[in-house]
Amino acid sequence: MDDVIATVPKRLLIDGKWRDADGGGTFGVDDPGSEQRLCDIADGQGADAEAAVEAAVAAQDEWARTAPRERGEILRRAWQLMTDRAEDLARLMTLEMGKSLTESRAEVSYAAGFFRWFSEEAVRIDGRYTRNPAGGGRTLVTKQPVGPCLLVTPWNFPLAMGTRKIGPAVAAGCTMIVKPPQLTPLSMLNLAELLREAGLPGSVLNVVPSTSASSIVNPVLADARVRKLSFTGSTEVGRTLVEQCSANLQRMSMELGGNAPFLVFSDADLDAAVQGAVTAKMRNNGESCVAANRFHVAESVAGEFTRRLTEKMSALKTGHGTEDGVAVGPLVSEDQRQKVRELVDDARERGARATTGGEPETGTGTGTGTGYFYPPTVLADVPGQARILREEVFGPVAPITTFADEDEAVALANDTEFGLVGYLFTRDLDRALRVGERLRTGMAGINTGIVSNPAAPFGGVKASGFGREGGAEGIEEYLDTKYLALATGS
Ligand code: SIN
Repeated sequence: MDDVIATVPKRLLIDGKWRDADGGGTFGVDDPGSEQRLCDIADGQGADAEAAVEAAVAAQDEWARTAPRERGEILRRAWQLMTDRAEDLARLMTLEMGKSLTESRAEVSYAAGFFRWFSEEAVRIDGRYTRNPAGGGRTLVTKQPVGPCLLVTPWNFPLAMGTRKIGPAVAAGCTMIVKPPQLTPLSMLNLAELLREAGLPGSVLNVVPSTSASSIVNPVLADARVRKLSFTGSTEVGRTLVEQCSANLQRMSMELGGNAPFLVFSDADLDAAVQGAVTAKMRNNGESCVAANRFHVAESVAGEFTRRLTEKMSALKTGHGTEDGVAVGPLVSEDQRQKVRELVDDARERGARATTGGEPETGTGTGTGTGYFYPPTVLADVPGQARILREEVFGPVAPITTFADEDEAVALANDTEFGLVGYLFTRDLDRALRVGERLRTGMAGINTGIVSNPAAPFGGVKASGFGREGGAEGIEEYLDTKYLALATGS
């Protein structure tokens, strides 16, 4: 067994102790680059989720009373430990999720950045003190932790989506129950142990992996003492969870699906636009809700943009994520590969042309299995009815269509139920701001293919959800506003 796998705790973390699942069941975690089993871990059940809630509830009051500086310093130490161990954390992530080591290293740094950012935010939770307009009293406004939280994290960014939720929860003084993804739970289990080493007290963080998300989520949300859900995942699952939270009116942060448009105007710096396109498309193998999902390019530059993007995409080396020089690892699972394949086939049947890629690659992984590879693909002349323009592809495929003018570009960009992020490339500052403001998205990348940044508010509108993670806004999601009315003589 690889050393980084051998050292991961493979059980549930409940009430400060690593323990087996109720009934003793386990499940396997596989390497998508070789289809080989990495290890087995405890398979959490409903009774484990209930025990995790009891632990989180019991720890809440005392944890909320700790000094903000103390909480901040735990996060700062965790940032330092992650930074010191970056290489091992990256290797573990590549093994369980597939992305290249370069991608995993970037994620470790991004993930640790949330701990550093929220270590700084912990001591800036503020309030106000004002005299009542009519005199005879004072108004005190303060912030309090919302209480125990359920954090449900996705498989695509196994560390960063955890630190982006755990960081502000720790900073605000909330206890947690974390349900990590079934496909990539190891990074979270490892992170939980690292947080203990950084000084996080026993039952503040409880981690319950499981093959049955509903067995964990249902009992936790059914308990009214749990006061918040933060979820990153699909819009479909998000809708169900919103309904579930209505019974106890729990607060929610919902980071859901995307369908990001990438607009290239005729006055764009084409080199920058092509580089931005590769970043926005290929970061994390395209398995990201902020991945550029569709490229709308001004008619006058579409041919040249397609040619240059094709050249760059076809030069990317595909292979097992741990191999030197590999830029594109396997997709996370056969299901995921099948979804990508279907969307590409649908576009081609409707007349799209693959200028590179377009067929599944097999046999490029190491080990006995073949790995779930799919090659970087560019599709030109994609017709408006193609499913790939409406559905989130979550893979390394760039479909290109054209527009005649700015109004058409904006109309195409906004023609979706989603509203997470949009990208635009232009040299005209007025147009950049105008189009940036007209995009019905929570975020816009202007002349850049990446918006993710711990210091900025990440989140969407419409079917992409609500709530913000990161930035000054990120901690507010874990705080309730409390008003104290004080009677005074003057
Ligand atoms: C996601 O894909 O869910 C998040 C991506 C990011 O934070 O950059």
